[in-house]
Amino acid sequence: MTLLDTARAVREKAYAPYSNFKVGAAIMAANGTAYSGCNVENAAYPEGTCAEAGAIAAMVAAGQTRITEVAVIADAPRPVPPCGGCRQKLAEFAGPDAKITMATTAGTTEETTVGALLPGAFGASDLT
Ligand code: THU
Repeated sequence: MTLLDTARAVREKAYAPYSNFKVGAAIMAANGTAYSGCNVENAAYPEGTCAEAGAIAAMVAAGQTRITEVAVIADAPRPVPPCGGCRQKLAEFAGPDAKITMATTAGTTEETTVGALLPGAFGASDLT
């Protein structure tokens, strides 16, 4: 199963009754294990969480903190780009060269990197 297949499968589990926009994300960690997540919305709209955040939480809960690759998929007109907040969340655990595959359920894919999505990211080194 490819990382994108994993993202496609977990997307089916998304809880998105308010937006009807289901997203699936899968993250490959440095240990070679894939962690996945889907968006989980809430009647109190701002309390909803993105698919990428769910995948990151699963990865960290498993003791992994290094992302090597990401795949995100939705039923969207173009390969779904991670939102701004998720770009920052991904940058916390991924180097700028980490590959992100963005996809539509219809089969269009586009590849980019964490660094291309969030150039000049704020990070831990800025806190010193
Ligand atoms: N969403 C994600 O899960 N990831 C993204 O990168 C884009 C947006 C979700 C949040 C919300 O549940 C729905 O898509 C519509 O914005």
